[in-house]
Amino acid sequence: MIISIEDRKVEHIKIAAREDAEEGSTLFDEVQLIHNAMPGFDYDEVDSSIQLFGKTLSTPLLVGAITGGTELSGKINTMFAEAVERFGLGMYVGSQRIAIEKPETRWTFSVIKEKAPTALKIANIGAPQISRLDEGKVLEWVNNAVDMIDASAVAIHLNPAQEVFQPEGEPWFRGVVEKVRYISRSINKPVVVKEVGNGISREVAIALAGSGIAAIDVGGVGGTSFIKIEAERWHRNDVGELSKVFQGWGIPTAISICEVKSAFRGIILASGGIRSGLDGAKALSLGASAFSMSRPFLVSALQGRDQLLQLMERTIKEFKISMFLTGSRQVSDLANAPLVLGPTIINWLSQRGIRCR
Ligand SMILES: Cc1cc2nc3c(=O)[nH]c(=O)nc-3n(C[C@H](O)[C@H](O)[C@H](O)COP(=O)(O)O)c2cc1C
Repeated sequence: MIISIEDRKVEHIKIAAREDAEEGSTLFDEVQLIHNAMPGFDYDEVDSSIQLFGKTLSTPLLVGAITGGTELSGKINTMFAEAVERFGLGMYVGSQRIAIEKPETRWTFSVIKEKAPTALKIANIGAPQISRLDEGKVLEWVNNAVDMIDASAVAIHLNPAQEVFQPEGEPWFRGVVEKVRYISRSINKPVVVKEVGNGISREVAIALAGSGIAAIDVGGVGGTSFIKIEAERWHRNDVGELSKVFQGWGIPTAISICEVKSAFRGIILASGGIRSGLDGAKALSLGASAFSMSRPFLVSALQGRDQLLQLMERTIKEFKISMFLTGSRQVSDLANAPLVLGPTIINWLSQRGIRCR
């Protein structure tokens, strides 16, 4: 049965909101930041601001790429935009394919221009689409996506596991790296390549390193699992069984940061299973410049505006406390904060010949 792209978006939101939509471990529990009993400055002096893609963020926190294209998505994007504008954060939007193909849904994305005029906004297009479009069309799509939300950067998402488990999936990845290179060279906005929860390896980072992109968002294992979400949508036992075989497939977020850092000199963004400001601080101590959370912000937005604002406020506070307790006055100090890594991470990195710090 083929369902409409709108219905698919609603199903994704409904299933993602369930508690069992997550899988695996980020391995941030194996990253121990060392307590600093004498930070040498007051808590009020902690400066958590950063510059990213030409914008100032009060804290290196973004709302991850989630949605757009339906009435419900429009409401959720409105809430996200108002909240990030209020706290000085940034946000991605979900794939904008639907708005390009169905202009009547455009408002569900473009509303964020009005609600978050100064915040960092990142556009979003999928790898399977850029694989199949010719160069002229690709640029048309990317420019359309950027204009739609007044984006400061554009993300291209890599989601091979999702596409292969999705009933109406399009697991088309031929020529993607060439198209990424073409886009990076042809538009005057930074390009981010992101995963959606299965992580990015050193080998993929090497392939992307020469493509002119500005950033890689690792989108690692440990949070929302699209293998689980798509298998749930399929309602067929064989797919359920298949998805169990691939349970936890991918690269844990903490490790993916190290894998990417070993090969890529650009900006690293952390996502996938980040569930607190402390997780975010750990991601930055491993080499990321900012972090995003998706499912937690989605779940809180579905509960209401106040819940979303509370979660954002709490995450910002957790991040600042983590900075204070590691003696990090500036965000860049986190990269030198002492830490201890657990055995799974050490073993993985040693077999892969990677040094993370
Ligand atoms: C309902 C839902 C829809 C999503 N849609 C997109 C999308 O359109 N494009 C994209 O790049 N990522 C999408 N993602 C993936 C997230 O950006 C993120 O990579 C993933 O959820 C892992 O982060 P988390 O564990 O914090 O949720 C979606 C996530 C959710 C929960």
